[in-house]
This record gives sequence, structure tokens and C-alpha cells, in this order.
Amino acid sequence: MEAATAVLIRQPLTIESLAANLKGGQRRAFDAVREVSSERGLRVYLVGGPVRDALLGLPVVDLDFSVEGDAVALADELIASLDGKVIRHSRFGTATVEFPQNDTSEGPVRVDLVSARRESYPTPGQLPVVEPGAIADDLARRDFSFNAMALPVYGRDVELHDPHGGIEDLAAGLVRVLHAGSFFDDPTRMMRAIRYEQRLGFRIAPDTLELIAEALAEGCMNTVSGDRWRHELEKIFEETNPVAPLRRASERQLLAGLHPAFDKLPEGDYEGFRKLDNLRRESGRVTGGMCLAALFSGWDTVEGQSVIARLRLTGQQASIARDTIVLRNSELEVRDLANHPSKLVRYLSGLSAEAVESWAGLTGDATVAYALRRYVREWLKVKPAITGDDLLELGAVEGPMVGEVLNILRDARMDGLVSSEEAELEMARELLARQQSVDSE
Ligand code: CTP
Repeated sequence: MEAATAVLIRQPLTIESLAANLKGGQRRAFDAVREVSSERGLRVYLVGGPVRDALLGLPVVDLDFSVEGDAVALADELIASLDGKVIRHSRFGTATVEFPQNDTSEGPVRVDLVSARRESYPTPGQLPVVEPGAIADDLARRDFSFNAMALPVYGRDVELHDPHGGIEDLAAGLVRVLHAGSFFDDPTRMMRAIRYEQRLGFRIAPDTLELIAEALAEGCMNTVSGDRWRHELEKIFEETNPVAPLRRASERQLLAGLHPAFDKLPEGDYEGFRKLDNLRRESGRVTGGMCLAALFSGWDTVEGQSVIARLRLTGQQASIARDTIVLRNSELEVRDLANHPSKLVRYLSGLSAEAVESWAGLTGDATVAYALRRYVREWLKVKPAITGDDLLELGAVEGPMVGEVLNILRDARMDGLVSSEEAELEMARELLARQQSVDSE
């Protein structure tokens, strides 16, 4: 097995060094949490992602705090001092607060507050039973050692809590669970392990890898709801490079654990992944729609429908998935209509534009790709220059005829038969005259 990569850790991590790297609204939110917790004598800790990322010298995205006490009450106080709003409360006593940035055009600052808690999993794969706890309990319930560190933000001269060897694992570039039952309790952590491994360029520790293999062999992925798995996949789609974790999840049999249809994708070497890689190189970005299209393009309608149901895809996601299969089966027709935009628009009408754009990036046929891209970016948006009112002025009778003539004009513009308002007016006059002579016969 290859050696773990040594990672440079920014140590020691103190409140001051962390605060110094926060900008604008994030800094104000951090200072406000410190102030309110000191005033109220509350034990508040920065936990999880921001501590991990600060130690790695990466930008901190969201601020996550754990409170030994009432997180929702702390959220309410913060709102009063920072003019923010609570966007979510949950039954676990957590709150997410959003503050406007004020001084920049960037999106709002998000602060997550949780009441420190102890968790147990009476039914593996289901949500845990929760009771109030101390920070040590709150760290012990977490997924990986590098996410189980806490930096107290109250008082002075406080030290980082790292009871599970998070710094050591960060420095060695290792993803490691805290205990042997972790993946049985919460199988979504297997997907999270791969997401971190690929995002951070880490390796999954050998003992953790064995636990994944055991959990998979026991079929524990089936204990988790489709909604929760869909959420994990969506988090992968949001990564800067979603292809790497998807490929790895396929290699490690995690996708096959989600649904047997994934067994059909050749491990890691799936053509859809190679095409996604190319797309990323060409356009610098791969969307969730493209990932879904790449996955579903390997299946027939029945398999596709079954995966949609297992993952409880949203309406929009399901349309992309289904329409991708339709598009893959329609390449000949699209190719034939590539030079007849108006006919192509009619042929593709009703299909999700995101599926069409995604398939344009994934098809191996350059003519099809070109036609689909022009369809989404140009032809779908074509409108005649003249309006229904212009037609009425030309003597058209109000009714379905007006819409029909406008459609003919739109098609003519799309097919390059007319290109100016004058030419459209002339064509409209001819069409109306022809209609009038039919009507008078
Ligand atoms: N967590 C966990 N098990 C999960 C999900 C989350 O233990 N199945 C814990 C981890 O300690 C994690 C924290 O909850 O750090 C917050 O979860 P999330 O917001 O998903 O992670 P972040 O680290 O904040 O964000 P990301 O992983 O995307 O960087």
C-alpha cells in the first residue's frame, strides 16, 4: 500500500490565529459568538469543518459551533446583535443563522449552532436518539477524527480539544473513524469518507477501509433511506471535482450498494466518468445535472426508473435522468434533424433543457453535440420580431390563427428563411392573404 502523504498543519491553532484569517461578515459573526458566549458564561466551541480546514490552511466556509447548553437561545441572541435571521431549527436543538455580508457582494455568512449532545443508534442506519451532553460526548458522536476537534471560543489561553487524534491523522493525510461501529450506525459516512479522501487528497486509513468492506458485506447500505443517500450524492455533485469521488465510490462498490444497476458500470473505468473528466477539462465545471446524466446514460428505462425510485430523486432530477435515456436513444433522429432547427425544436420539445445540455457534453457524436448546444442556447429562445398586435394591424382576425402564424414565423426565423422584421411582415402578409382566399372559397 502506498504511503500516506505528509500534510502541513498550521499549528498551534488559537482563536486569534483563526480569527485573523476570517474576513468581513464571517469575522463579525465569529466575534459576536465570542462576545455573547463570554458575556453569558456559555461554553461554546468551534467544531468540525472550520477547525479541520483552518488547520489545513484552507478557507473556512461555514462556521459550526457546539454549545454546552441551549444553541437555539444563543442563535436568538446573535440575531439581535447581528441583524441576521434563523433559517432552520431542528428537533435536535440546532439552529442555522444567516447574516448578510453588508460590505461585499458575496453571499450571506452561515453559522450553524448545535447543543452539545450524546447520540446512540438503537436502529442502525436510522437517525440517532439524542440527549444533552458535554463537548467530549459531542466529539465522540462524530464521523472522523479530523472532524472531531473543538476550539473553545470563550475565555483566554484555551487549547484545542483533540481527543481522537485528529491532528495526527490530518498530518498523515488519513480519514479515520472513531470506532468500529461507526459505519453500521450511519452508513452515509462511507460516502463521506470517500468525499473527504478525494477532496483533500487523503487516504482512507487501512482499518477504516476494512470496516467499510465489512459494512458493505453486511448490506448495511440498505438500512438508509433514499432521501439520505440522495443528499449524500448531492454533496458529491457540489464538490469542485465530483468525478473523483464518484469514480472512487464505484471502485469501492459503494454505488453498487446503492442499487444493483450500478453493477453495470465498469468499475472506475466507466465511459460516463471519462466523459465527465473531459467536460471538466474543457469547461472547467461539472454540474449535478451532468453527473446524473453520465450515471443514467448507462441504463435502460426500467433500470433508470428503479434507481430514481431508490434515491427518491426530485422531480427536476428525475426529468434529467429520464430524458438522458431518451436522448441517448434518439441520436440518429437528432443527427438527421441537425440542419432543420424548427423540426429539431419540435422533436425535443418537453425534454429538460439541462438534460439536453448535459447530453451535448457527453455524447460521442460531434454533430449531435453541436445541434443540442445550439438548440439550448439559441434555437429554443428564438422569437419572431413581430407580435400578435402587428398581425391584427395587418388584418388578421383574433383567434388561433394569430398563434399559428407566429409559430410559422418563428420556425422561418430559426431555419434562416427570414432574418429581418420587414421580411417577417412580408411573409405574414402572404400567409394572411392565402388564409383569406381559402376562407372566401
Ligand atoms: N457529521 C457526522 N456524521 C455525519 C454527518 C456529519 O459526524 N453523517 C459531523 C461531522 O463532525 C461534521 C459535522 O457533523 O464535521 C458537520 O457536518 P457537515 O456540515 O456535513 O460537514 P462539514 O465538515 O461542516 O462540511 P464539509 O464536510 O462539506 O466540509
